[in-house]
Amino acid sequence: MKTNMDYWDSVLKNLPKSYHQWFEEERKYLQRVVTTDAKVLEVGCGDGRSIFDLLPVTKHIVGIDHDDTAIADAKQAFAHEPTIQIFKADATHLPFQDSEFDFVICMTTFANFADKKFIVLDEMKRVLKPTGKIIISVFSEDAFEERMKVYKSVGVKIKEIRGTTVVFDESVGDHISEQFTQEQLENIFTQASLQILDITKVNMAYLCTLIK
Ligand SMILES: C[S@@+](CC[C@H](N)C(=O)[O-])C[C@H]1O[C@@H](n2cnc3c(N)ncnc32)[C@H](O)[C@@H]1O
Repeated sequence: MKTNMDYWDSVLKNLPKSYHQWFEEERKYLQRVVTTDAKVLEVGCGDGRSIFDLLPVTKHIVGIDHDDTAIADAKQAFAHEPTIQIFKADATHLPFQDSEFDFVICMTTFANFADKKFIVLDEMKRVLKPTGKIIISVFSEDAFEERMKVYKSVGVKIKEIRGTTVVFDESVGDHISEQFTQEQLENIFTQASLQILDITKVNMAYLCTLIK
């Protein structure tokens, strides 16, 4: 049975131009905002795409994901980088002490948290140093057409579409994918008692920097 991660692998292997452009903007943003040798946690790291983006800036990176395939792939990818650690964990229970990280990043994964997003934001805040920053990259209101093209091309089973929220078949695992307007993101971050330092719109996503 194919899971979310198998479908995501297919997307990464045949990246449409729109996603490629978004990921290029993510890479530049991460390399601009994250400081040299900072201690970074990536929540929902998948196979480590964004960890690779960060290597020119810092190698003190921890990636967590709750998917076994993602963990196996990421562990293999960074087997020769002793300061990069990959753990299996859920974003709702981060296995770290309070105030451990200079940056907590969450790239493309925030769309999947559904009704857990406030718990996850609380956890991100908890493990962030008082001076730290959270970076989130997430689908914008302009992503729907591109998302639907991608879902169709990889053949993921869709159970229901509610507005712009896509509910996949339960077998997929993380079976909800959402997109947000800037106003919706501002409301979510404000409700989570996070301050917004920056929200930058790229072609089909928002790149957000938040502080406690
Ligand atoms: C769309 S992929 C993005 C992967 C990677 N960040 C990237 O951009 O290439 C979403 C990833 O988040 C993981 N994920 C989703 N919900 C999660 C949760 N509650 N806890 C941990 N990982 C989660 C999935 O297993 C998957 O690897």
